[in-house]
Amino acid sequence: MKILCIADHIDPLVHSVNAKDRFKDVDFVLSAGDLPMDYLGFVASTLNKSVFFVFGNHNLKHVELFRRGFSALRSGMDAAHLTRNRFGSTYIGGRCIKTRSGLLIAGMGGSINYNNGENQFSDAQMAWKLLRLIPRLLLNKLFYGRFLDIFLTHSPPYGINDLPEDPCHRGFKPFLWFMRLFSPRYLLHGHVHLYNSNDTRVSRYEHTQIVNVYDHYVLTIEGV
Ligand SMILES: [Fe+2]
Repeated sequence: MKILCIADHIDPLVHSVNAKDRFKDVDFVLSAGDLPMDYLGFVASTLNKSVFFVFGNHNLKHVELFRRGFSALRSGMDAAHLTRNRFGSTYIGGRCIKTRSGLLIAGMGGSINYNNGENQFSDAQMAWKLLRLIPRLLLNKLFYGRFLDIFLTHSPPYGINDLPEDPCHRGFKPFLWFMRLFSPRYLLHGHVHLYNSNDTRVSRYEHTQIVNVYDHYVLTIEGV
């Protein structure tokens, strides 16, 4: 299985009339945030694949639209039109989904709080958001034998692929215990821009491979 992962920057290789041919063998698309929704719409329609995404700390014009729609859906209102068919993309912030191919994916957007801006959180706030995912993860374990396959975030974990000395680009500490407890196969994130080939893109923590998907990255998962 191949997954096209994108984040942070409109990549000319993806935002191209040749994208359909270049990425014809990907099964679906994951966006790790900070991208304009128009770009996600372009990717969804050009590749004709599902796009799942979280928001980052920039390009938040449509964040309330998706959050409102999801809340309404939760409360039983017929609000599917609010969360689906918007830019051909599905928002998975703060929730866990199972794809048609059976992959379990949880999303968690936002960055560390550095100037009280929108979609910025303290470590304590992020820990609370992670706790709210746990009931679904336990059900996954019960029904599918594993908690989670992919954890899609905007921010990296603290101390891994992040810039701990930079208040804007420090990762979240709670992501560390979350990985230790629930062993996702992959944590895919953005937020930290990669400017040269020596910058770290792939790291490992316990049982999790952590990938900075800045620009674009094609993740190949064997055996799915
Ligand atoms: Fe960001």
